Amino acid sequence: MNASIEPHDDVAALQRDVADSFCDLARETIAARGLFRVSLSGGSTPRRIYELLAERDLPWDKIHFFWGDERNVPHDHEDSNYRMVRQALLDKIGIPADNVHPVPVDVAAPDRAASAYEALLRQQFGLPDQGGALDWDLVLLGMGDDAHTASLFPETKALAIEDRLFVENFVPKFDAYRYTMTYPAIESAKQIWFLIAGAAKRDALRQVLSGEGDVAECPSLRVRPTRWFVDKPAFTG
Ligand code: 6PG
Repeated sequence: MNASIEPHDDVAALQRDVADSFCDLARETIAARGLFRVSLSGGSTPRRIYELLAERDLPWDKIHFFWGDERNVPHDHEDSNYRMVRQALLDKIGIPADNVHPVPVDVAAPDRAASAYEALLRQQFGLPDQGGALDWDLVLLGMGDDAHTASLFPETKALAIEDRLFVENFVPKFDAYRYTMTYPAIESAKQIWFLIAGAAKRDALRQVLSGEGDVAECPSLRVRPTRWFVDKPAFTG
């Protein structure tokens, strides 16, 4: 059952709502449990959200940032999701370095880097070497116009991996590796927010909402968000 969708007039309204909702959830979670662990999305839609969060007064020392996916490039590369969040948010707030958990990218050995990040996730969440579930307080996800989410791209190997939390994933269309959470790592989150804006996403969103089709070709079909953040250009009702 899809959570209800109330489309925003435009991407700017969507981004403001996500920033406001993030602050509310973070404060509520920290008041209840003293900690807020969030998996961040890359892409252009969330960038403005991170910039808006940089203007807010949050207990940053109680917030831990992780990345749901990353590109196989150095952290100072223009395509790096870590670099994007660093510039949009992290460099503007006083957050302890120990609260920021970038993927330890190893361009020459992405398998090793993905395994190292999985080990870090397990350590941070107090999980054993096998099994267990990441009880994220929040996972932010975007969706590409090809219906990929995180770096779970159509017809790629990571879609079928159920016994890992974080893996390297070769993406033929880029002829490059990406890093991504697996579906099990996403699905165990307390909150999953899907951020989808722009007319280019319309066809993919329509298929996702129909619930029909093959996950291998439409990876976002498997995501069950707790909240949809969609703008009118992307939503056809
Ligand atoms: C990435 C993202 C990716 C993104 C979608 C949508 O690393 O690029 O994690 O999954 O969310 O491609 O990106 P936009 O928000 O830029 O449309």
